[in-house]
Amino acid sequence: MEAGERLIVALDVKRREQVQNLVEELQGYAGIFKVGLELFCHLGPPVVSMIREQGARVFLDLKLHDIPRTAAQAARAAVRMGASMFTVHVAGGRDMLRSVAEAVHEEAGTGGPPKVLGVTVLTSLGAEQLKDELGLTRSPLDQVLFWAELARSCGLSGVVASPREVEAIRTRCGRDFLIVTPGIRLAGSGADDQKRVSTPAQALRSGADYLVVGRPILQAENPRRAAAALIQEMEGALECQNKNC
Ligand code: C5P
Repeated sequence: MEAGERLIVALDVKRREQVQNLVEELQGYAGIFKVGLELFCHLGPPVVSMIREQGARVFLDLKLHDIPRTAAQAARAAVRMGASMFTVHVAGGRDMLRSVAEAVHEEAGTGGPPKVLGVTVLTSLGAEQLKDELGLTRSPLDQVLFWAELARSCGLSGVVASPREVEAIRTRCGRDFLIVTPGIRLAGSGADDQKRVSTPAQALRSGADYLVVGRPILQAENPRRAAAALIQEMEGALECQNKNC
């Protein structure tokens, strides 16, 4: 997979015209565009169709979490919308994860099923919150690994993980398990509200398959140039990986 295909741009905007302009400008630079809960709540399924009509692929990041039947029915709708990737909370449990994985395979047409990614521990939660508020006593990393293994055993394609967790998940879950990583910043730029950031090169070297980037591209004076700079760094890291340097 080429570097650009590994770049997912998070379309964290509200208006249709912004989406249209960004997709047009970044076509050929980003492999996939991420529609999150905010954009989806503003514009609904038509925004997915619109991006697809512009010839781009969509990562529908709605983080489903419900009883097995409801989550599976929503997953079927995501497949029908034409999402190439979408997310579910691993905390929904084995039955929910299996129902979603099965529903996606049944619903998928000739283009093959979308990738179903598990959300493990939200990066906004720290160790104390896990223990005191949610009653989860493992360390955040152990909880992430525990849920990544559950996701894999239920037939999910991979997980979304912070840069800090990538290497451990790769070691535990093997080469074929997808790892999608947000919190990406070029060296020397600010972290915004992300607590655990990594450069594109570090994230790829740790074993990430896809990088999710929002503000560093969206808020750049020239989004296309920002995407090109990220891709250049990604290319360097991948080349190095191929040569084992
Ligand atoms: O602007 P920035 O590059 O920080 O955007 C990262 C994107 O990845 C946002 O859409 C954010 O919601 C998403 N994300 C994240 N951390 C997670 C899961 C998703 O930052 N654990």
